[in-house]
Amino acid sequence: MSNDHSPVATALGIDIGGSGMKAAPVDLISGELLDKRHRIPTPQPATPDAMAEVAGELAKSFSWSGPIGCAFPGVVQANTIRTAANLDPSWVGVDAAEVFGASTGQAVTMVNDADAAGIAEMAFGAGRGRAGVVMMITLGTGIGTAMFANGTLVPNTELGHLILDGVEAEETASARAREDGDLSWADWAPYLDAYLHEIERLLWPELMIIGGGVSSKFAKYSDALTVNAEVVPAELRNQAGIVGAAVGTRSVLGSEGPATNG
Ligand code: BGC
Repeated sequence: MSNDHSPVATALGIDIGGSGMKAAPVDLISGELLDKRHRIPTPQPATPDAMAEVAGELAKSFSWSGPIGCAFPGVVQANTIRTAANLDPSWVGVDAAEVFGASTGQAVTMVNDADAAGIAEMAFGAGRGRAGVVMMITLGTGIGTAMFANGTLVPNTELGHLILDGVEAEETASARAREDGDLSWADWAPYLDAYLHEIERLLWPELMIIGGGVSSKFAKYSDALTVNAEVVPAELRNQAGIVGAAVGTRSVLGSEGPATNG
């Protein structure tokens, strides 16, 4: 596959997860993937060196030359990793743009994975054109959150680590918690509802967008959600991380964030 797209209007998005690293070239104007996405399992242990090699393979598989945006499942400040709850702890303190830049040979921009998903939903999905406070909540191995005020991202909100009844929300309301506990949708939904109520009690978003794999099963648990806010499933499904990572190459994340409502 060759990259014959304009470097200005496209970027390669890489979505890093605990189990897989997924990539595709993205049209930054339409938010569409320009090629089939490519997935490589996340190496275990998920160290910087091992993952850099995979990022290099992903870029090579698209013969990519141009900007690369990476969505990372942890706090990212000016490309430096501050937390890595579900990856190898040796990531903490590492400039990931430098590490992935070296293995791909391209300029790399890092963004938190939930922030990336939120950026994509605000620009092209369920949050398009929405003013006020919008909260993106991704339910996967962990819980990721992204908060927008009138379309402007407040990066690294990390509300998956809120403590509810003495336990991190991630341990009860994530998709992993449902699978590990072998819970039915009906048994799991009250944990999610309690979590959404805690977010509402503290931040009062007008719109909550539920992302992650469970967004496609929204009808199975939506009736159990009783918050005041409007709650909707994400529209970009498993592409949001890739698209948001790519769009993130256009802004200096961690300082001003992307304008998603314009
Ligand atoms: C991390 C967040 C991340 C979320 C989803 C959490 O454990 O702390 O940074 O967004 O998982 O991957």
